[in-house]
Amino acid sequence: MTPLKANEIKLMEKAGQLAAETLHYVSQFVKPGITTNELDTIVHEYTLSKGAQSAPLGYHGYPKSICTSLNDCICHGVPDNTALKEGDIINIDVTTIKDGFHGDTSRTFMVGEVSESAKRIVDVAYQAMWEGLEQVHPNNKTGDIGFAINKFVTRKGYYAVKEIGGHGIGQTFHGEPFVPSHGKKGKGDILRPWTCITVEPMINETPAALKELPVENSSIKYYLTGDGTLSAQFEHTVLITDEGYQVLTLWDY
Ligand code: MF3
Ligand code: CO
Ligand code: CO
Repeated sequence: MTPLKANEIKLMEKAGQLAAETLHYVSQFVKPGITTNELDTIVHEYTLSKGAQSAPLGYHGYPKSICTSLNDCICHGVPDNTALKEGDIINIDVTTIKDGFHGDTSRTFMVGEVSESAKRIVDVAYQAMWEGLEQVHPNNKTGDIGFAINKFVTRKGYYAVKEIGGHGIGQTFHGEPFVPSHGKKGKGDILRPWTCITVEPMINETPAALKELPVENSSIKYYLTGDGTLSAQFEHTVLITDEGYQVLTLWDY
């Protein structure tokens, strides 16, 4: 990816802010009884009202405006008529296109009161994202991010998903480099100043091989844990600066 110019950085900031605002907006509706389709409509309409588009809608045939990944769904869960229930955990992943630039952010919500084990994996996933973000520095490589995430997650007794990860982002939704959630220090692609990436670790309770399933009429796949145990994820879009990183999709946790 070529470095962004000052005006392009402004546009990435705007897109990131709107994605964060949208994720914050939809959070008030995450309650027992609401369906994932209803959450999808809320985000779709909010996004259009801000003069923006939802990037997932029509992306490689993907049918909805957000991904809603419930409990054992690792990522790319497709909204449907499933109603949320007390005790669920659900990742809502919002990607906004504003003036041609993408902001991509997600978080895992707890629906009402959840089990201690659900709280624990959500917390570990959130912290894992920050462990990765702290490695975003122009002298580092993607492997440094992955190494830090995997080390942290392993210490906590969880498993980072290796097959799926973060990505370069800008005027394209998914570009180079791939940003893994495991890896070796000093390996992988260099982190170029004034480009943007996402850090989005997916964390599982067990090492069971993941299940890959097709999204209908689309080349997008969705993923479940192999054994029905929980998975949690958080995601931010960040700008790599000359001395570190700037989170473009910041929201309160
Ligand atoms: N937002 C997801 C990511 O973090 C990608 C979703 S692609 C879709 O990269 F087609 F499934 F929407
Ligand atoms: Co992403
Ligand atoms: Co995303």
